[in-house]
Amino acid sequence: MEFYEAVRKRRTVREFADRPVPEAAVRRALAAGLAAPSNAHLKSWQFILLRDPEKRDQAVVDRLKARDMTDPAAIERFLQRFDQEELKKVYRRSLPRQQSMMLEAPELLLVCYRTKPLADCRTWFELNPLASAWMCIENVMLALAAEGLFGCTYTPYDAGALKRFLDVPDGYEVAAVIPFGYPKEPPGEGQAEDLDARLHVDGWG
Ligand SMILES: Cc1cc2nc3c(=O)[nH]c(=O)nc-3n(C[C@H](O)[C@H](O)[C@H](O)COP(=O)(O)O)c2cc1C
Repeated sequence: MEFYEAVRKRRTVREFADRPVPEAAVRRALAAGLAAPSNAHLKSWQFILLRDPEKRDQAVVDRLKARDMTDPAAIERFLQRFDQEELKKVYRRSLPRQQSMMLEAPELLLVCYRTKPLADCRTWFELNPLASAWMCIENVMLALAAEGLFGCTYTPYDAGALKRFLDVPDGYEVAAVIPFGYPKEPPGEGQAEDLDARLHVDGWG
């Protein structure tokens, strides 16, 4: 698939077809992740694929404590604290699937990265390991899209219990937990963005 086509096709998907993902496609996507640029060329990334169903269940439900919010009234109550309509639209779609997408996906990937503790970071520069992890993640997501595979980058609020459960070494954090597979329905097109509204030359004005 041509590069710009993969960029256009990549969408967040939270419901998956009951169809296994070829191992070779998984490996190609992760290898694409490892080709991403990183601060000081450290590439301090490690991947964990959670394939054992029982272990995955314990990781997602008991450790990550991911929950589906399915009651529309509860969702609306939760959304009252926000005022951006776009954000509310996304949350209405995503909140009912936060647990089930991870339990039902053919694959569940954790992207871990090495960093110093957040409390020791005093500048934006020191967050470069996190920025680099997301370079890696975007490469993975684009490579998956090129394979006809889609997923969702779930960001844990607190991954402490999950890290202990999976023996993630000290000094590593979880950037994202990514359920992926073939989509249940073909993902729709993303909305076209207005580049001119965001592009500034020689200053913001
Ligand atoms: C940093 C980051 C964190 C995200 N966290 C979550 C999440 O915790 N749960 C979820 O369902 N989607 C999450 N998403 C997916 C976004 O909701 C999604 O990318 C957005 O709605 C745009 O949709 P698109 O990816 O189809 O263009 C996250 C995306 C990013 C980039």
